[in-house]
Amino acid sequence: MSAKDIILKVKDLINEINIHNDLYYNKDDPKINDAEYDKLVKKLRNILLDNPSLDIKENPLLLIGGKASENFSKFQHPSPMLSLDNAMDKEDLLNFEKRLKNFLGQTYSSVNFCIEPKIDGLSVNLIYHDGNLVKAATRGNGKIGEVITSNVNTILDIPKKIDLSSCPNEIEIRGEIFINKKDFQILNSKSENQFSNSRNAAAGSLRQLDSSITAQRPLKFIAHGFGSINNKKKETYFDQMNEFKKWGIPISPMLTKVNSIDELMEVYNKITKERSKIEYDIDGLVYKVNNIALQERLGYVGKSPRWAIAHKFESESAHTTINQIDIQIGRTGAVTPVARLVPVNIGGVIVSNTTLHNFDEIEKKDIRVGDKVLIERAGDVIPHVIEVIKVSGIKRKKPFVTPIKCPICNSKIISDPDEVVIRCSGTYKCEAQIIGRLKHFVSRGALDIEGLGDKQINLFYNQKIILQYSDIYDLKNKKKLITSLEGWGELSYNNLIIAIDVKKNISLGKLIYSLGIRFVGEKNANAISSAYSSISEFENSIQSKTLDKIKRYMIDIDGLGPKAIDSFFDYLGLENNRKEILRLVNHCDLFIDENITYDSKLTGKKILFTGSLESMSRAEAKSKAERLGAKVVSSISSSTDILVSGDKSGSKLKKAKELGVEIINEDGWLSISKN
Ligand code: IVH
Repeated sequence: MSAKDIILKVKDLINEINIHNDLYYNKDDPKINDAEYDKLVKKLRNILLDNPSLDIKENPLLLIGGKASENFSKFQHPSPMLSLDNAMDKEDLLNFEKRLKNFLGQTYSSVNFCIEPKIDGLSVNLIYHDGNLVKAATRGNGKIGEVITSNVNTILDIPKKIDLSSCPNEIEIRGEIFINKKDFQILNSKSENQFSNSRNAAAGSLRQLDSSITAQRPLKFIAHGFGSINNKKKETYFDQMNEFKKWGIPISPMLTKVNSIDELMEVYNKITKERSKIEYDIDGLVYKVNNIALQERLGYVGKSPRWAIAHKFESESAHTTINQIDIQIGRTGAVTPVARLVPVNIGGVIVSNTTLHNFDEIEKKDIRVGDKVLIERAGDVIPHVIEVIKVSGIKRKKPFVTPIKCPICNSKIISDPDEVVIRCSGTYKCEAQIIGRLKHFVSRGALDIEGLGDKQINLFYNQKIILQYSDIYDLKNKKKLITSLEGWGELSYNNLIIAIDVKKNISLGKLIYSLGIRFVGEKNANAISSAYSSISEFENSIQSKTLDKIKRYMIDIDGLGPKAIDSFFDYLGLENNRKEILRLVNHCDLFIDENITYDSKLTGKKILFTGSLESMSRAEAKSKAERLGAKVVSSISSSTDILVSGDKSGSKLKKAKELGVEIINEDGWLSISKN
């Protein structure tokens, strides 16, 4: 098409769309259906995307979805939105299979799987009531997301109405919002949009306060699951997804069904080869147990379902040169050497830094400034140096010297014979550690406060606006100061205050994890939080009223080791830390995570399994007990409430009898665990 033809075509389309807008919005007399209207809009959008230099006055796309928005208010997902565990290689997959076999026992022989690509975008929850899209929300922390209905209403791929005769009355449809590779390049070629990758572009587009801006972005949607469905649910994931397709909801054209891990590998190898031809960025494949009843039986641990796993693509590598080696001090004082590189493109991502992990690694691989090195990047994993490429005839620099003093606070660097990592000893005085902990507090796995990343924490720390966690909740009183800083305006400030407010509603486990205590990762933080039956009990223990009781309780929690417990109580040993926690308790709406538990006769009971069960594996029994609110313990004591004694129970059964603990057999267990 010539430039003139393009302009004529655009004018025609704008005319036509304006006529239909008028019929629909003003005259209440639409002459075409939604699909026909969407087709027109899509046509116009595609032409505008392909011809970014066209200057269109009164672009009707700017009007779409312009109504008043409830965007960014909080929304509790009817059922939690989970994330996925990763498998990097065949061994991880075999472990996945082993876990399924252990859990399902005999039933495993009937398992088959579905495969889909793992799209690198943002997950959303679409709520349909009686066939109408009534709400769209981001994943948020999996439990509570942000409402983005007006923005999602501008996405043409997403039907606003589905035919009620075949769809359930209430359904949550989940999927990924993303931008195609080609559309991303076009979008980024405009000077006002500079996103580092297509995922960020999609996120930035969805998080607009003004949905007419979202309407101009080429957002796409593909469904990859569902939450609760109140009726007409299919038996398998495969059938359910194909049902979605019938309703006009896009599903992956690559959705495949297979019978075994070997077949999964075959599909993986095939898609790996075709990856570059796919229109959007994918970073792996997702495997899901196909039968929905089995998915429900398998349930989830932490935030990930047992019935699914993401198989990440293999790594890519490139050569480059080390310009410099810097020392970084992490939030736990860990001293990490970091190589500054001549920037290099690895699989579409520009890499200019890489961790060298520790000083043993530098010595082992004999890495020096000025060396040419081979760098590898695998999935989300941070790039790392594989080896030094020795070039003969070139004189190398001297070996790198391990520091003995912290370059930030000058404290002594200490090494523990049990670990390779060396640490700065200035825990509470080292600014690098303080800033590191602040960054961790707001980071993705922790409080995940949108708009408050590393850059902003550095700025606010330097300006003495945020010096401790609780200062974050005081930002709402510092509008004048913050909006006077470079890069900050009224809009970004307001967005930040909203984002902080949204994340006030957090589980106790999440708060404990966010504190960044050594050895207290996500899993341990959740285990620690499970020792508390209420937030006031937590507060009391912080005020040192019930500390000993809680400690005794924790020792019994299955999977929670002494290192984490000691580290947690060491942290509480400092008055400043206790005071800060109490301030956080005051600022946040804390709750005890009830994701996995609900009230039953077993709530709060300490239960111990011994011997083998016939009807289910120990893992399944344990998970069921936890879901019913019980605490599964690993050793018997007088505080144990119930011992479930399976076949071949040994010393624990004997001890339980001596201690007078209630003992039940497998039938007894099946009867009390029925829900
Ligand atoms: S299933 C029950 N399927 O990956 C598991 N997720 O790491 C829930 N994603 O939050 C997700 N493609 O945003 C699933 N085919 C796919 C996916 C997919 C991309 C994203 C999704 C999720 C994250 C999990």
